[in-house]
Amino acid sequence: MVDYKKVIADAIDKIRNKCQNKTIIALSGGVDSSVCVVLAHRAIGDNLIPIFVDTGFMREGEPERIMEIFGDMNLKVVDAKDRFIDAIKGVSDPEKKRKIIGETFIRVFEEEAKKVDAEYLIQGTIYPDRIESEGGIKSHHNVGGLPINIEFKEIVEPIADLYKDEVRILARELGLPESISERMPFPGPGLAVRIIGEVTREKLDVVRRANTIVEEELHDFHPWQAFAAVIEKGTGVKGDVRVHGWIIAVRAVESRDGMTASPIEVPWERLRRISSRITAEIPDVARVVYDITPKPPATIEYE
Ligand code: XMP
Repeated sequence: MVDYKKVIADAIDKIRNKCQNKTIIALSGGVDSSVCVVLAHRAIGDNLIPIFVDTGFMREGEPERIMEIFGDMNLKVVDAKDRFIDAIKGVSDPEKKRKIIGETFIRVFEEEAKKVDAEYLIQGTIYPDRIESEGGIKSHHNVGGLPINIEFKEIVEPIADLYKDEVRILARELGLPESISERMPFPGPGLAVRIIGEVTREKLDVVRRANTIVEEELHDFHPWQAFAAVIEKGTGVKGDVRVHGWIIAVRAVESRDGMTASPIEVPWERLRRISSRITAEIPDVARVVYDITPKPPATIEYE
């Protein structure tokens, strides 16, 4: 049996011993970076400056939620929404999108980091991130996906040996709210990898709203992840008119660590309700499909 209280105490000690001065961390709002922020805040208090970069690819209500939970921890919120969408304008290649988003993230983060003159960087990398990146499956974008061009005295990764379910145990132990400890993983590039092809403001708006409905409707299945993706446009009929509306894919999977996954057998009645809600609440959607592919051969995200 792992003693998680000791894991926490050791992580705090390690951070306290290493980070003697100003330290920054990129806070995404997911369980990994949130746990690191709390650990580091306990270790070094106001020497910690969490930086939240609002890419515009976040879920509904995200920046507000972050402020509510971490607002009293020296949090710096950076509104970079225009910069991100401009950076990937016209780009539809998935890997290119990921690379540009990763690079933009790093540049924004570097600029902010320079302003606060930090000596140390903390990263919420966990064990599966390292495996997938090393295996070259895709360019993983936590902050670790690319080199950061600032000289730090040290980069500290306090939870790099833990799996996601262990990080959740830490989150509960640290008293983080359930909305964080039990939160589904969310990819670094956010909703941008749940949009096939070019990211536009319109598609972002559609996928964001559909995602909220899917999360609400599938919450009680305790999925590893449940979300919406926008595929393309297809023909539908609304009222008496044929329309060309968005096709939304609903994905809900079980998994232990994200490396493999199986689709959840969601009852028909619930799927029908999701389809009704999405097409009724988002007028530009004409069709909803449920993705029944395991990983492998599919990945969990769409790009
Ligand atoms: P895939 O889509 O490769 O995803 O089956 C496996 C797990 O990783 C999450 N994911 C990411 N997490 N940065 C992250 O921090 C990323 O770029 C990224 N891409 C995918 C995904 O949501 C799933 O849980």
